[in-house]
Amino acid sequence: MVYVDSRTRDIASMPRGGPDASWLDRRLQTDRLEYLDRDDVDDLKRKVMDSLDRAGRRRRIGIHDKCARMVLREVADVPSPRILELGAGLGGLSSKLLERHPTAALTVTDIDPTFVAGMAASDLGSHPRVTVREMDATAIDAPDGYYDLAVFALSLHHLPPVLAAQVFDAATRAAKKLLIVDLPRPPAPLHVMLLAVVLPLTKVSPLQHDGFISSLRAYSPSALRALANHADPAITVEFRTGRGLGPTVAVASRAR
Ligand SMILES: C[S@@+](CC[C@H](N)C(=O)[O-])C[C@H]1O[C@@H](n2cnc3c(N)ncnc32)[C@H](O)[C@@H]1O
Repeated sequence: MVYVDSRTRDIASMPRGGPDASWLDRRLQTDRLEYLDRDDVDDLKRKVMDSLDRAGRRRRIGIHDKCARMVLREVADVPSPRILELGAGLGGLSSKLLERHPTAALTVTDIDPTFVAGMAASDLGSHPRVTVREMDATAIDAPDGYYDLAVFALSLHHLPPVLAAQVFDAATRAAKKLLIVDLPRPPAPLHVMLLAVVLPLTKVSPLQHDGFISSLRAYSPSALRALANHADPAITVEFRTGRGLGPTVAVASRAR
């Protein structure tokens, strides 16, 4: 029999809206997998990732550029920062970082070997300031504090709470700061309305299919705090999120 302690049980069953989630918010979640999480739908998975990457690379309004600016703000006081990108997908964010910073050294990683092979074969793979490699964000093999910053963009919601807490643990050990950028979790009544608008599109658009599930799996700020606290009470989380329905932006670091 496998023994599971009560702290692990508590975090495993924590609602995506956090320990204090309302009755309605607790119903707005799912264990259903996105195409991106599945190994039996390669074609759909590729379509979702290509659409995400195309949208991300749009000039100025693309999320990759926005994330790159957030990353660089966090390491503004480090002349030649060492940056680890986790869950990099096709590498759009790291490409923007290279454009925007003349000396940053990047380790660009993903758990999916196909995405890693794609990035290795792209311009990123041959760039002198870049290392591309496979890496699980829950198990980072780097010395303590090796990186100035680790970034996990649009990815944390893919992981269930126990694994998401492991990301906080691993990344705040290997890096001085962990920047999480992810989908927002809207207030529950608004969330219902937004989901109702997107639902009909999920049948025709693989991207909307995954977006719908992502929205149900997005962690609230209180959930992120609980995940970090479960990983180690010495981890603090600050939010950089502005007003409205922009992404959730959190910076975690561990007192050393
Ligand atoms: C929605 S995509 C985001 C990709 C990229 N960050 C972007 O913004 O375009 C989520 C990514 O997280 C990766 N991923 C999922 N679980 C992971 C894990 N445990 N460790 C590292 N990457 C993971 C997936 O392979 C996928 O590339």
